[in-house]
Amino acid sequence: MTHAVITGATNGIGEAIARRLAGEGLTVTVVGRSDERLKATQERINAAVPGAELILERADLAELAEVRALAGRILAGPKPDVVISNAALVTGLDRMTSDGLPRVLAVNHLAPYLLLRSLAPHLERARLIVVGADPVSLGRRPVDLDDLLFSDPERLGEPVELRPFFAYGQTKNMNAMFVFELARRLAGTSVTVNGVHPGIISGTGLSRELPGLGALVREAFRSGSLAPPGPQPGRRTPLGWTEPDDRPAADVGADTPAWLATAQEVEGVSGRFFVDRAAVETAPHTTDVQRCERLWNHSARLVGFDA
Ligand SMILES: NC(=O)c1ccc[n+]([C@@H]2O[C@H](COP(=O)([O-])OP(=O)(O)OC[C@H]3O[C@@H](n4cnc5c(N)ncnc54)[C@H](OP(=O)(O)O)[C@@H]3O)[C@@H](O)[C@H]2O)c1
Repeated sequence: MTHAVITGATNGIGEAIARRLAGEGLTVTVVGRSDERLKATQERINAAVPGAELILERADLAELAEVRALAGRILAGPKPDVVISNAALVTGLDRMTSDGLPRVLAVNHLAPYLLLRSLAPHLERARLIVVGADPVSLGRRPVDLDDLLFSDPERLGEPVELRPFFAYGQTKNMNAMFVFELARRLAGTSVTVNGVHPGIISGTGLSRELPGLGALVREAFRSGSLAPPGPQPGRRTPLGWTEPDDRPAADVGADTPAWLATAQEVEGVSGRFFVDRAAVETAPHTTDVQRCERLWNHSARLVGFDA
């Protein structure tokens, strides 16, 4: 592997993946939405990995036109052999993009869908990786295919204050469904695509737009009103979730995505979902061919592609 593109690489897990792959000698295209944060990331990675080969790409992944333009620039330059779609956020359901889409859906699902669908047919040999989330928690809440735009927030369930977290979870389940459907469509090519849960990680910026949400979610886990997540990287037992500091840091979250990018063991493996370097099953509703096709076709319409 010589060239990796990583979205959401200006903070948290994405930056840790970029640092790790740069340290392994790959040229890394760091995708971020702000020149200032891109430069700051470059300085931090260069300080940790002297001589790191970095390319900076600015794109606001909430905007479909910017995702399309990013894909065009990537294809016009040195072709990547790894593309890691990692950018995501948790935000209020009233936050919309200029395309009239919920921002959480646009950044977390439609951007990877549009970017990877745009790139895949033009890559000869590549590993595509989508950073999703905990398959055990997500297994309990199937994607609501009749309301992808969250136009009726009541369908997300109770309590009301956790709905942004439930909507985020829906988009992360879409990541898994997209991986399976894209892998099915890429079968027989030398382009693979896999999903990964990085772990429940501390010190990232994921819910910075909703500062109180993390504490509410942790309290819901603690009180048992949310069933506990599955086994997490960096731990031996399922998460007890006592204090926030129990959570491992971004380097732990970066381990499996970075491993998927370069490890010999996963050469040719496609359409799988990984936790802690192991392929795991995700819920049947994320692999059901008809459901995945419905999501694929609806997403195509939303981004302006033919199904
Ligand atoms: N942290 C966890 O516990 C956890 C658990 C399960 C899954 N994950 C997954 O891990 C991945 C990384 O999350 P993280 O925890 O490292 O969060 P993070 O620190 O907030 O990193 C997210 C990255 O996405 C970028 N991003 C957000 N909105 C964007 C937009 N509109 N356009 C371009 N880039 C945008 C952010 O850019 P800025 O720097 O400009 O904000 C940041 O670089 C996500 O896919 C998340 O769902 C995380």
